[in-house]
Amino acid sequence: MTNILVTGGLGYIGSHTVVELQKEGFDVVIIDDLSNSEAFVLDRISQITGIAPDFHQFDLKDKQKTAQFFQENKIDGIIHFAASKAVGESMEKPLMYYRNNIVGLLNLLEAAKENQVDNFIFSSSCTVYGQADKLPIDESAPIKKAESSYGKTKQMGEEILEDFSAAFDKKVIALRYFNPIGAHESALIGELPKGVPNNLIPFVTQTAAGIRECLSVFGDDYPTRDGTAIRDYIYVVDLAQAHVKGLKRLISGENTSNYEIFNLGTGTGSTVLEVVNAFEAANNVKLNFKIVGRRAGDITAAYADNSKAENELGWKPETPLEYALKTAWEWQKTL
Ligand code: UFG
Repeated sequence: MTNILVTGGLGYIGSHTVVELQKEGFDVVIIDDLSNSEAFVLDRISQITGIAPDFHQFDLKDKQKTAQFFQENKIDGIIHFAASKAVGESMEKPLMYYRNNIVGLLNLLEAAKENQVDNFIFSSSCTVYGQADKLPIDESAPIKKAESSYGKTKQMGEEILEDFSAAFDKKVIALRYFNPIGAHESALIGELPKGVPNNLIPFVTQTAAGIRECLSVFGDDYPTRDGTAIRDYIYVVDLAQAHVKGLKRLISGENTSNYEIFNLGTGTGSTVLEVVNAFEAANNVKLNFKIVGRRAGDITAAYADNSKAENELGWKPETPLEYALKTAWEWQKTL
């Protein structure tokens, strides 16, 4: 039996990853403090896979509880999602972001070291690249000064892990996600934004559902094919599967260095208007939208060169944008 700890396992990407891990025969233990997730997700996971994951509700900032958890549970690998993730909020509450994302990580790593846990997957972000000089973005692109405190916590997290892997001979993979979207095909799990969504897809689905009156498209004066900003929208289940591949790579010792980085995106960029059109076409609904000014801190374009993940991880995203947008809408309709 291989026991995998998934921190933040009831959150958006975490819950989809738990499902994929269970499907591959891993035993999953979840730590989640429910600060940005819901307890019912646990039942939903069991409904999909037929297996109830072991669940521990506490905050990783609690060093004593974290240490005690590792004394009581034999863990073979960790996938660490638990973190605060709202860019705007991080600018208003930078100290909270540093405490949640850095202190939580340090407590986890200290416990992992004490208890000889050798395999670690970190949830990072393409935000570490900022506006890259060259597109598509590969892993050798320089790290730019982050625009947000959230982005800085991801950059710091990566640096902490690089040192951790070198000093204690631990195997670490940092996965840099582009823009995760969509929901599980069962429509039992998906994204659960609290309050007004910041991200494009939940705003789109809430507008289609009539919860929001109108989608604001932030800027049509970018130097792109239709003037709206370009992102790489990656289906959340494809993304979840990359975590399983990463974990297997570490456990079987196929990694080529102690600290590895992979971009996870489709390799194709879509403009905001292309997403709006694809959503309407995929779901046969009309979206109310208007063009407004640019949003502060937004970049023009980001999409991944994912050839390293394809060649070394054996991971290739298979899901078309239209299907991902269909699952997002099916999920929204259940809420
Ligand atoms: N957008 C709109 N209207 C909205 C919301 C978004 O036009 O109501 C546009 C944005 O301006 C952007 C695109 O849709 O061009 C995507 O915006 P998201 O907020 O969905 O995603 P971001 O690319 O801004 O942010 C995402 C993650 C962050 C991460 C960042 C890295 O949510 O966690 O990618 O670039 F830091």
